[in-house]
Amino acid sequence: MINTLPPLKRLYSTSSKKWMSRQAKDPYCKLAKANQYRARSAFKLLQINEKYRIIQRSDVVVDCGAAPGGWTQVAAEKVSKKGLVIGIDLLHVDPIPNAHLIKGNFMRLKTQNAIREILEDRPVDLVCSDMAPSFSGNHTADHARSMELCESALRFAEKVLSPGGSFVAKFLMGGTEHEFRKKLQTIFAKVKTEKPDSSRKQSTEGFFVALGYKPLQQKIVTDSSTKEDITAINNAANEIVKEDVIQIDTENRV
Ligand SMILES: C[S@@+](CC[C@H](N)C(=O)[O-])C[C@H]1O[C@@H](n2cnc3c(N)ncnc32)[C@H](O)[C@@H]1O
Repeated sequence: MINTLPPLKRLYSTSSKKWMSRQAKDPYCKLAKANQYRARSAFKLLQINEKYRIIQRSDVVVDCGAAPGGWTQVAAEKVSKKGLVIGIDLLHVDPIPNAHLIKGNFMRLKTQNAIREILEDRPVDLVCSDMAPSFSGNHTADHARSMELCESALRFAEKVLSPGGSFVAKFLMGGTEHEFRKKLQTIFAKVKTEKPDSSRKQSTEGFFVALGYKPLQQKIVTDSSTKEDITAINNAANEIVKEDVIQIDTENRV
């Protein structure tokens, strides 16, 4: 019989052989398998949560960039049946008990509207994003794209987070993350940058952990001294919010 299969050594390239050997040795891959998590990345959220306790029972969590589902699995097991978890990804995610899954581009208004339909005005306790761009090989471009994903997640978070809520976002280091961090510091009471043990040392990824969301009006009230000032500034703030919504609707991109 003629063997039509190519010799085994040609089935895998050197880089995929390296990848398979790294996966086989990686303790977090073994742990993920043992705990039935779909991805080793589940441990990144578990380790961030262990340190900051960002997911409580009954919480509402929006998980951006969910495929294959590791973070969504973690969130869904941490919140009780009273909680709500929504995972969104460009790719299909197989069903996860106690979680809603949306296939779509998070940066599109249509996708964000689909999330809000499920939320039914329930305020969100945590918006987390593990979204990553498809790598182009050009680090500057990949970094810029990763920061765009962070910006998009933050803009959405500002619309749905409850006062005191949390925000976690993955970014690829490259320079401009410092500007984003400064912005987070004006919106949240506490901002930290984390590289959990489960994040590979050679990867340039990091995670912003922002706690204690301060909605626009709350920030303004803190800065103002008189009642008249507060009313005037809050009216102006409402106008800004309205303009923002109109602009977003026009672009159909958030
Ligand atoms: C590192 S993976 C997420 C892993 C996931 N947190 C887990 O634990 O299984 C990054 C994901 O971000 C998704 N992604 C990138 N850009 C996106 C976008 N604009 N909208 C939705 N998902 C996006 C990718 O499809 C990819 O599945």
